[in-house]
Amino acid sequence: PSPASFNGAPYLSELPAMPTDLPGTDIKRAPLDSFRIAIAQHVSSSLGVDLNAALVAVGTGKIGDYTVAVPRFKLPGKPNEISEKAAAAFQPNEFLSKVEAKGPFLHYFLNSKTLIKLTLQTVHVMTHGYGAPRDEQGNTQPSYGTNRDGEGKNIIVEFSSPNIAKPFHAGHLRSTIIGAFLSNLYKANAWNVAKYNYLGDWGKQFGLLAVGWKLFGDEQKLQEDAVNTLFDVYVRINKLASEEEDGKGEKIHDEARQFFKKMEDGDKEALALWQKFRDLSIKKYIEVYDRLNVQFDVYSGESQVTKENIVKSLDQLKTHDFVTREDNGALLADLSKYKLEKAVIERRDGTPLYITRDIAEAAQRFDKSFDGNGFDKMIYVVASQQDLHLAQFFKVLELMGYEWAQKETSRLQHINFGMILGMSTRKGTVVFLDNILDETRDKMHEVMRANEAKYAQVENPERTADIVGMTAVKIQDMASKRINNYNFDWSRMLSFEGDTGPYLQYNHVRLCSVERKAKESDNLELPTSDLDLSSINLDLIAEPKARDLVMLLAQWPDTVKAAMKDHQPSTIVTYAFRLTHLISSCWEFLLVKGQEKDLALARLFVFRCCKDVLGSALRLLTITPLDRM
Ligand code: ARG
Repeated sequence: PSPASFNGAPYLSELPAMPTDLPGTDIKRAPLDSFRIAIAQHVSSSLGVDLNAALVAVGTGKIGDYTVAVPRFKLPGKPNEISEKAAAAFQPNEFLSKVEAKGPFLHYFLNSKTLIKLTLQTVHVMTHGYGAPRDEQGNTQPSYGTNRDGEGKNIIVEFSSPNIAKPFHAGHLRSTIIGAFLSNLYKANAWNVAKYNYLGDWGKQFGLLAVGWKLFGDEQKLQEDAVNTLFDVYVRINKLASEEEDGKGEKIHDEARQFFKKMEDGDKEALALWQKFRDLSIKKYIEVYDRLNVQFDVYSGESQVTKENIVKSLDQLKTHDFVTREDNGALLADLSKYKLEKAVIERRDGTPLYITRDIAEAAQRFDKSFDGNGFDKMIYVVASQQDLHLAQFFKVLELMGYEWAQKETSRLQHINFGMILGMSTRKGTVVFLDNILDETRDKMHEVMRANEAKYAQVENPERTADIVGMTAVKIQDMASKRINNYNFDWSRMLSFEGDTGPYLQYNHVRLCSVERKAKESDNLELPTSDLDLSSINLDLIAEPKARDLVMLLAQWPDTVKAAMKDHQPSTIVTYAFRLTHLISSCWEFLLVKGQEKDLALARLFVFRCCKDVLGSALRLLTITPLDRM
């Protein structure tokens, strides 16, 4: 069967048929949707309200699983009496076991047996079965939690965007982590995603770099690691250029300006050197990004905004009232009316600025992206230090009249974030990303070595240590609201206790090992990719703890949707921690070892589903879940 013939969990066909055309629902992918529809049906029939209106009124509450507030419907009569009447008309069914009327509220309790069966089967078929799409090699792509909401829509996510020859700083690291997550998130919601890296790859610094290259250039080093090599050259030449003695520094600056002028004028030789720096820097970036499990579709950058488009934007801008020529000759966009200050958009000497390129680049992207179809949305993941810059250039685009930049319907969004404080190695030196990643890896490697028996089982310990280290860095970054600053805290981040990355990996590894051991020592084998779930008797799962756990698994698709609304990685991280805490508290209630075979298998299946969902959460966060460590 192909994904097209996907009918959802086998158990779904044994249940009363549900309408499949209600907006925002997808009963094959999201188990809770069936229950919400069942509640809406009861509300609709007992109170005579529209089914869709009833559906959106189904919310979470403190009592039961879902709550409906009756006053919402503005019906004639007393809300308390109306809810009593609705409760009196309730008949338990496959989806709902009971309803309690308390004042104007209706509290619904889901049928646990159906909840458990439907949820676990859905997790399974969406992860290993026909509900999961396949890649070119035919491997299933776990997709429980995904939805089709964004089908046919295009988004550009611009993130990372470092500057060549300058340090890759904490702001770039956060942008990389958050931007890669958001790209995954949009994909999980069925959007077409194009990932852009907008490099700082043009400007006078390349003039300085060229002068420095003549003095201290080392071709071999450049080939090996352009990012660090060019930074060294840049630091050294800047030092020389700041020397006052004999006008030495001034001379260097003059030379640099001349070189950059040559670049601007299209001089072949100057451009060839610049191109080499750019290409080799990108090559090195790709390596570091790969290590972080991040890939880009487009390496754009300030250099890629064409002169033509800059001129076009400037000409267009000059026709607007908010743009004025200053006495000193600079061109100014006056945004003070909007509390956005004034922004220079063309220097006195006619050269464009950072903001000018951003304006022209946005228009260029709308014309060129997605085979000329343009974007439905474009997100810029940039530190909150640049809030004003982003607000200014969004405003300018709006005032220029671009339909896609109009306030109410704007397709542009700035995703900002706070700072990382104290990001330096443990020895205290401020550093490059590489050093940070190396140090986390080495530290994790040490921890792993301490357990010799386990260590011997790990196939590629170095890479595993690297992944755990990366998980530590990423989880620390995404654990709280984006806008918060946080301290780069080595000992906390690398600990296996508390809400840390290593703790999440540890839980995933434990789930994997339980399954391995059950197979090796008790010959318990779970279904992998087939749909034959009849060998698992889920009626045996009835513990209240197990129900809580399954309810949380059932909420995973909702969590993915919630993150789409708030664009907060912490929504996903918080879910992952809730899940691991609940799993930890379930080991003793859901013993596998020493149990009768059917029971052991059913419980093992619950843990397998937990592993699948935890794995999905980690992957969504751009983290590779580990099987051993
Ligand atoms: N390269 C810039 C910097 O490091 C960030 C670019 C952000 N993106 C943009 N379209 N302006 O500060």
